[in-house]
Amino acid sequence: MSIQLKNVGFIGIGKLGLACAEVMSTHYNVTGYDIYPRTSDKIKISDTLEGAVRGKDIIFVAVQTPHDPIYDGSQPITHLPNKDFDYTIVNQVLADINQYVTQDQLVVLISTVLPGTTRRELRQHITNARFIYNPYLIAMGSVAWDMVNPEMVIIGTEDGSLTGDAQLLKDFYTPLMENNPRYAIGTWDEAEAIKIFYNTFISTKVGLVNMIQDVAIKNGNMNVDVVTDALINSTIRIISGKYMTAGMGDAGPCHPRDNIALRWLAENLDLGYDIFDTVMHAREQQARNVALYLHKLQLNTGLPIIIHGMAYKPDVDYLDGSYSLLIGSYLNELGAEHDYCDPLCGRLVQDGYNAIVLLAHNRQITYGYTGELPEQQLYFTPGAASVIVDPWRRFVHPTLKVIHYGNTRGQV
Ligand SMILES: NC(=O)c1ccc[n+]([C@@H]2O[C@H](COP(=O)([O-])OP(=O)(O)OC[C@H]3O[C@@H](n4cnc5c(N)ncnc54)[C@H](O)[C@@H]3O)[C@@H](O)[C@H]2O)c1
Repeated sequence: MSIQLKNVGFIGIGKLGLACAEVMSTHYNVTGYDIYPRTSDKIKISDTLEGAVRGKDIIFVAVQTPHDPIYDGSQPITHLPNKDFDYTIVNQVLADINQYVTQDQLVVLISTVLPGTTRRELRQHITNARFIYNPYLIAMGSVAWDMVNPEMVIIGTEDGSLTGDAQLLKDFYTPLMENNPRYAIGTWDEAEAIKIFYNTFISTKVGLVNMIQDVAIKNGNMNVDVVTDALINSTIRIISGKYMTAGMGDAGPCHPRDNIALRWLAENLDLGYDIFDTVMHAREQQARNVALYLHKLQLNTGLPIIIHGMAYKPDVDYLDGSYSLLIGSYLNELGAEHDYCDPLCGRLVQDGYNAIVLLAHNRQITYGYTGELPEQQLYFTPGAASVIVDPWRRFVHPTLKVIHYGNTRGQV
């Protein structure tokens, strides 16, 4: 048992909070508080917020961050305006807690919030104590089991480092856990993103799998399970870490046109929706965002842009569905001076040329699953004034300016 964190306050003992507080009571002294009368034979329940906060080593907060009830998904909602969660309650509870805490105490927020919310509006309320964001991956119906067998424990701190408080919280959880879980520790914003993208990744997966079901019904002669079982067992590229590194978009002679063909099929079978319209739209807009980023750098530096890799991937000379060319087409639209470097495609750039260099190709990312591969060699040696933009965030260089596109830690 952790020596420092013995006395626990738990604010908001609703569907999530009560079961979690009761699990914690197997190792710690837990006092809960809720504005709604709650009972428990496992934890003490305080009549006041102050009673559950004052003198506690650690105070968890699991109040609701609701939408209007109409947004719960039990009736059609996609025609309604998009809405953030409502943070009124969590803002108020944190401000109230702040009256009763000191720097010896750690306040830990569990409630689900969108990326950026803690830094923008929540953290400011806790001026008298330390603060951590710690969202849970828990499902209704199995709250107590999920709590002690999580896929991971997500911990967010101000700068993402494993600070003393993150370590303290880890030590607090260790005796409670039954499955020796992973601890994913990042900034508040990263922790918020891990939680919300974890959930929506599941929604995306279910949406895709159920589309196969729709195709089976409309097309005929298909058992959806035969198709999904084939995909489940595709553990090299699909059910794996492959394609989980953000970078250049999906490319090549098959994927983009398969998406377009599936859009046609969805229309032809009258499925009533078009998932791949959004997927293809996102692919194009993401390429445009890279082009806009490069163009802005060009306006700041006056340098030409070299797209390092013209073929749709390294070691081939195929241009079909090349994401480099897609970015290039947006650079054309923006009037940004640019060219390609790719020896296999006959595009060479002189060593020492100064440019903004987009490292489109990364052999290890593309082919790493086939085994150990030598490090990616640059196709030319950029000049000393060059700026390297690496969308895969792997390239390091002792003297050149390198931007890891997608890593904004520490930037304002
Ligand atoms: N339920 C889950 O399985 C689950 C899983 C993961 C994350 N979450 C997140 O956890 C948070 C809580 O979810 P929930 O399902 O337990 O909601 P809930 O509505 O069941 O519980 C929230 C509790 O907070 C109480 N509360 C509200 N204002 C309060 C105040 N001022 N002081 C003390 N208590 C107050 C409410 O009375 C309620 O009992 C949400 O942000 C949710 O997204 C829930």
